[in-house]
Amino acid sequence: MPPVPFNCSSLLHSLRQDGLAEWAETVDRKTRAALQPQQNGHLDSWLQLLQQVPECPDAGLRVEGDHVAVDGTLSEHDQAILNQQLKALHPWRKGPFRFFGTTVDTEWRSSLKWDRLAQHVRFDGRRILDVGCGNGYYGWRMLLSGAAMVVGLDPFLLYAVQFELLRKFCRPETPHWVLPLQDNDLPDRLDYFDLTFSMGVLYHRSGPIDHLLRLRNSLRPGGELILETLILEGDGDHVLVPEDRYARMRNVWFIPTTTMLAKWLRRAGFRNIDVLDISATTIDEQRKTEWMTFDSLSDFLDPQDSRLTIEGYPAPVRAIMRATRPGL
Ligand SMILES: C[S@@+](CC[C@H](N)C(=O)[O-])C[C@H]1O[C@@H](n2cnc3c(N)ncnc32)[C@H](O)[C@@H]1O
Repeated sequence: MPPVPFNCSSLLHSLRQDGLAEWAETVDRKTRAALQPQQNGHLDSWLQLLQQVPECPDAGLRVEGDHVAVDGTLSEHDQAILNQQLKALHPWRKGPFRFFGTTVDTEWRSSLKWDRLAQHVRFDGRRILDVGCGNGYYGWRMLLSGAAMVVGLDPFLLYAVQFELLRKFCRPETPHWVLPLQDNDLPDRLDYFDLTFSMGVLYHRSGPIDHLLRLRNSLRPGGELILETLILEGDGDHVLVPEDRYARMRNVWFIPTTTMLAKWLRRAGFRNIDVLDISATTIDEQRKTEWMTFDSLSDFLDPQDSRLTIEGYPAPVRAIMRATRPGL
């Protein structure tokens, strides 16, 4: 097996120190397996690109308005190389980011979701798991809000590569990692994280309660889940099961009301369930940009009636829920 080019050795060390040696071995093995060349035809070129990211010894990370921003001294030549590398990692979906002089205006203005949720969550000193974390935009926001550690999981390799590019400008021990893994790679019992996030993932799972059970078991007793997913507006325990595609997405299985979602959460063993926010997704929040040139939300809505998707279902509305794994 090739060496893991992603820098998660500091995570493995922390997990072993915290008594999770078995999970550390699994993470190591599965990460190496996910990074085998046959997993993705682009992987070789992405890994080469990562090795050629310009160095910037005085680089620093901060939040600048809505952006996760890396600053430091970079020559014009290196900035030009970096710009080419950023472009080569199209499409950029979650963000925005600023890399020295270059702003990456992503498809999603993820800062809007961040603003809706961050006001309800305490990050300081907490160990956080973010399942389906994309390129780690939210993880950086969590870390810069005081989280002790953030572990993101996302099986889509390009996002892990985008994350690694930014991480190259951080100290190796920076406690934020994105692993090319999925919810099913979580062990049956982890009992470790103070906070687990699952945002934009539940509707992609054909077994939503299994997903919730895995999230529950990732938490220490008393830990909290932040769940964000598509919902059906209205009361009662109803669920929309799209016949085929929903807003052109093939893999949307269940869109429940918040009442139904609360029932699923209770069945998965959560308590103290709150709805923190309900927002319709707008074409101001999800749109085509020069960094994501494929179709976006406006192409997925009915051109005559933007309250409907192109398939005639209610247009996307998302809820953010909070739930607690009961204490001992
Ligand atoms: C709609 S995006 C949401 C990204 C981010 N959490 C957000 O809220 O903006 C869904 C993400 O979940 C990832 N994903 C899909 N199936 C997954 C699974 N089984 N486990 C973990 N992540 C998954 C996808 O690769 C994608 O990055």
